[in-house]
Amino acid sequence: MAYVLAVLASGRRRGFTAGLLAEAAEGAASVPGVEVEVVQLTRYRFDACTSCFHCIRDDAHRCSLRDDMGRRGEGALFQKVLRANGLILGDPVHGWGPSARAHVFFERLYPFTWSGELAGMPFASISCASNQGMHRLANQEICKWAFTKALRRVGGLPVHVAYYEEARAQARQLGEPKCATYPQQERGRGPEAPPPRRRRRYAGPPPASSPPASTPSAPPGVVNRRHQESSTWPSGVHVIAASYRPGATRRGTTVTMN
Ligand SMILES: Cc1cc2nc3c(=O)[nH]c(=O)nc-3n(C[C@H](O)[C@H](O)[C@H](O)COP(=O)(O)O)c2cc1C
Repeated sequence: MAYVLAVLASGRRRGFTAGLLAEAAEGAASVPGVEVEVVQLTRYRFDACTSCFHCIRDDAHRCSLRDDMGRRGEGALFQKVLRANGLILGDPVHGWGPSARAHVFFERLYPFTWSGELAGMPFASISCASNQGMHRLANQEICKWAFTKALRRVGGLPVHVAYYEEARAQARQLGEPKCATYPQQERGRGPEAPPPRRRRRYAGPPPASSPPASTPSAPPGVVNRRHQESSTWPSGVHVIAASYRPGATRRGTTVTMN
């Protein structure tokens, strides 16, 4: 049975966004072999990423924060994402863009950037506005986030509630035919999805022999500690160094592994 996770980012359980997401969920559930669960983000406890980079260093790429998107992969909401074969997001437009709650949710999917476990998973989003609009802009922004997780975006529905009735039918369709592909996927990830290119470590500063001229001297120990770490990295990990010391010149950010 394919499992589709429908995520409601609105705080209003019976609001417009919830209504559209319910339609999409019903559409998905009408496909044989598909089971849908609707979850509201307000029911879960999670906060913004603290940039500890544990999920990068950890071989299993899990988050160490003690909340529902963390607990080293045991967080209740993280577990649902992990299990999902498809993801649908229902998001209200806040401040001419996606809601903060949706943003934090996506931010906390960062471990998947490194594990590649979401690569190819079908993803659809609904952005619902009721005032000044900007629902298209909001939906585009969510599309960008999905790209960073290598999700396979199968549809987006920007809606203004002035057109709510039409949008309900469109939301249902958004769930329906797209979700028909879910059972065909092994764990929802398309067979055409490229194998994840695993990037394993964030880098230390540039080599001590060539410090950037403008870099202020680092507090003793900081550079050395990072260099020491870098010397223990397994072979095959190529580091293009980046420095995170305040005021330091940024030399590059990418770390790749063969
Ligand atoms: C903080 C906040 C910011 C909002 N910003 C916008 C906006 O920029 N454009 C807009 O059309 N509606 C805006 N709205 C209205 C929401 O988009 C509206 O609540 C939503 O579309 C309806 O979904 P809901 O019933 O789930 O709340 C805002 C609402 C809140 C609470």
